[in-house]
Amino acid sequence: EGFLRFEHEPYHNFQDPATAQAQEKAFRSVREQYVGRTFPMIIAGREATGEKMHDVHNPADTREVVWRFPNATHAQREEAIAAAKAAFEDWRFSDPFQRATIFKRAAELLRARRFEFNAVMTLENGKNWSEADGEVAESVDHFEVFAREAMRWAQGKAVYPMPDEHVTTVYEPLGVVACINPWNFPSAIPLGMALGAIAAGNTVIWKPASDTPLSSYLMVELLFQAGLPRGVIQFVTGDHDVLGDDLVDHKDIRMIAFTGSKNIGCRIYERASKVHPGQRWLKRVIAEMGGKDPMVICADADLDEAAAGIVAAAFGYAGQKCSACSRVIAEDSVYDALLEKVVERAKRLKVGLPEDNADLGPVIHERAARNILRYIEGGKKTAKLVLGGDQPDMGDRRGGYVNPTIFSEVEPNDPLFQEEIFGPVLAFSRARDWRHAIELANDSEYGLTASFYSRDPHKITEARKLMHFGNLYINRKCTGALSGTHAFGGYGMSGTNAKVGGPDYLFWFMQTKTIAQRY
Ligand code: SER
Repeated sequence: EGFLRFEHEPYHNFQDPATAQAQEKAFRSVREQYVGRTFPMIIAGREATGEKMHDVHNPADTREVVWRFPNATHAQREEAIAAAKAAFEDWRFSDPFQRATIFKRAAELLRARRFEFNAVMTLENGKNWSEADGEVAESVDHFEVFAREAMRWAQGKAVYPMPDEHVTTVYEPLGVVACINPWNFPSAIPLGMALGAIAAGNTVIWKPASDTPLSSYLMVELLFQAGLPRGVIQFVTGDHDVLGDDLVDHKDIRMIAFTGSKNIGCRIYERASKVHPGQRWLKRVIAEMGGKDPMVICADADLDEAAAGIVAAAFGYAGQKCSACSRVIAEDSVYDALLEKVVERAKRLKVGLPEDNADLGPVIHERAARNILRYIEGGKKTAKLVLGGDQPDMGDRRGGYVNPTIFSEVEPNDPLFQEEIFGPVLAFSRARDWRHAIELANDSEYGLTASFYSRDPHKITEARKLMHFGNLYINRKCTGALSGTHAFGGYGMSGTNAKVGGPDYLFWFMQTKTIAQRY
């Protein structure tokens, strides 16, 4: 009972001067300890360097190389897969209580280093303090949740009995799981997928995004420090030539856990369906892909609350969350008033350096900014620009800074309405009434997160039934799912709906054995 009790890790309050000072100190010490260093991969329990290296840039000024990581060679990839396969033979039989104990210890270690992990993330992916802090807190939650989930699934499930047989249903791990990770949540997303795999008794090839490897490296080291046998995770870095298709296609990979873009997710899903010589299973794939997440605002909603939720969900981390709000669909009668309130709030956001805790930092790199600006230029022709639409003057700094941008009168066939832009660009669309608003919200190939704001129980009941999204939030913003509580994953082209942090997540990483015994 005591073990199962759980509270979400609290966020830091950076308004408190002592807390802010602790975060500033962590930036200084991360700059002293880590900036300029070259880090290794971890293959077969040993540190490994590659033949070539790649630079990791600070998005706040991409001229700054913060650290370097190796590019794995083909031989190193093979070595990593072989080591994961060998380690599986022990780890698969490890005691789930031991796994849980390791995760609990890791949670303690991470609690003590939160400011450091925040600072590393800010320097490699441009999150401001609160966004980084929220993600590291989510990582602590993941450790606590997966500790409990490892224990819970170890109990198996009850079946309907029969008189002369003893029948049990138990869950066993699959094998080597390749975890392919995104840069936008470089701590919590890789950790969630890896913990799903290892809590269930699998071993892992952990490939971080090449833009954000240090958040992952530190997490893997922390797990080893907490007592995880070093063979259980192979930490490999580098590019798609070695760690893309060839990893997915490999006959010894049993499962692929992916979070990233729709295009790459679809490519992995398709490639993984092919059975290669020597392969003795059908590969399993879980893929968490994009979103075009709407917030529906009914005429009876609290417009101030809705506006606050919209601005936080659309512009937090410059809109680079798969859960970010990118469409607002409002009933005609409140559309103009709501738009005004949202613009008013968004105008107050300060674009600046993540290390100074600006509301909104740069997007991941200038290439991403160019792509966002293309959408903005298109939008200027098809919709009405009401805020932003340009880049702030950041002096001689190089980075993908884009001002918070809002378009109004966006039609459903507009790319602004249909395509994931992954930046601070918000589209407002007008609905005749609340039913039409729900129809418009559902008019998307994606179905990740959505919000519905109303106080009317009847409308809420209908929205709960009709809205086609994996994560539907009523009267709150559509970002910020909490591990263990808001199982996270979408419908439609948002992915396989594996629901990380939820009660069924571990099932995806296991196979089910029925054992019927007579005496
Ligand atoms: N889990 C994050 C959120 O809910 C997105 O990946 O915002």
